[in-house]
Amino acid sequence: MNFRTIIEPFRIKSVEAVKFTHREDREARLREAGYNVFKLHAEDVLIDLLTDSGTGAMSAAQWGAIMQGDESYAGSRSYYRFRDVVSALTGLKHIIPTHQGRAAERILFHTVLKPGMVVPNNNHFDTTRANIEVEEAEALDLVIPEGRVPSALHPFKGNVDLAALEQVLDTRGDRIPLVMVTITNNSGGGQPVSLGNLEAVRKLCDRHRKPLFLDACRFAENAYFIKLREPGQGGRTPKAIARDMFGLADGCTMSAKKDGLANIGGFLAMNDDEWAERCRNLLILTEGFPTYGGLAGYDLEAIARGLEEVVEEPYLRYRIRSTAYLGEKLIAADVPIIQPPGGHAIYLDARALLPHIPPLQYPGIALANALYVEAGVRGVEIGTIMFGLHHDGTEGPAAMDLVRLAIPRRVYTQSHIDYVAEAVIYVASLKDTLPGYRIVHAPKVLRHFTAELAPVASARS
Ligand code: F0G
Repeated sequence: MNFRTIIEPFRIKSVEAVKFTHREDREARLREAGYNVFKLHAEDVLIDLLTDSGTGAMSAAQWGAIMQGDESYAGSRSYYRFRDVVSALTGLKHIIPTHQGRAAERILFHTVLKPGMVVPNNNHFDTTRANIEVEEAEALDLVIPEGRVPSALHPFKGNVDLAALEQVLDTRGDRIPLVMVTITNNSGGGQPVSLGNLEAVRKLCDRHRKPLFLDACRFAENAYFIKLREPGQGGRTPKAIARDMFGLADGCTMSAKKDGLANIGGFLAMNDDEWAERCRNLLILTEGFPTYGGLAGYDLEAIARGLEEVVEEPYLRYRIRSTAYLGEKLIAADVPIIQPPGGHAIYLDARALLPHIPPLQYPGIALANALYVEAGVRGVEIGTIMFGLHHDGTEGPAAMDLVRLAIPRRVYTQSHIDYVAEAVIYVASLKDTLPGYRIVHAPKVLRHFTAELAPVASARS
């Protein structure tokens, strides 16, 4: 008998209580937080979908591995275990641990970029973009046109626009030190990149003699989408597909806080000996000795074990299905979301839901704030606050104004997700009453983390 219900592929050994609060409390907490959900105390959040990064539940086997951590400063056994797992997965030669993904990005880009250089990607995530721009280089987004249209259906909306990539390689190739592809494409909706597209990018890179780096944070989710959607891949294991993806790359940056199933950690990996030596020298300066890179030995153990668990098929089937389940409920209620649902998150299309709030009054903030006040659910704006401030200091609308509801790995059950769906559908019914926002105070870089905002009178009132 093939039962149809896809269950959580684990049972729960340890629980953490969530705190229930009243609407008035949440209104006050949000006001105190400058109307920026990043500044809330997490305790005052009922269901926290701010990020899937570092928020997952570790397995009993990971906690067990933590007790095996070797805390030696140099040459720790835990490093070699970590290195062996990452090498077996990626096939890459130099494995450099870092305290999280952005440390890998900073070390890579500070090593290889000079002012005026260009790094193409499908879509750079905010930290990647910031780490490129701080080197006075350009972060260029070249996702396929479907990837910019929330309602457009495409099985691999994260794919790179090959014609556009070829054109920049032809016209600005002398200023491109490497090509990057983000799997899955977080800023574009957690959308996967096909193996076919990666192969074609690889060919273009070969023709122009450019190294290809993956931003591999969610490589396992990407591999599972390939299994589900790419012709000829259905019979293969996610692990074999992941190996093929990495096999096309010359290097990668990785945040182990996502598909490493760990609460902290990351790595930078590459084949080039000279770049690796320079990166390790920078690592020693700011992260630590190359066999720990800013992590404890026990973190390296947790990541090594997590990288093995994350490619297990029952886990990935449940993971991708539980995100789609939330998406389907919202689609059925006519809430506009990025379609099809991504791997780690559902992205609400705030610009489509709140047409009375112009992009420079931040419809994503309006929606995220209402979700918190009405239901205690915390999502995050991915839109004009996050991406609208250009490095020349001017401000304009981002490509999309979204609210991301990121699902932590192995943390929430189906009834939590049912509650979230009910909450979003309720808030969508209030849409005409939601105000836009203005910035009271904001820094010049990564302003979304610390900006203080205030509601403006609704355009309709
Ligand atoms: N690249 C992508 C695609 C990411 O999504 C992130 C982090 C990073 C790089 C940086 O990794 O946080 O370990 O330094 N994304 C988190 C998020 C923060 O919420 O999506 P990090």
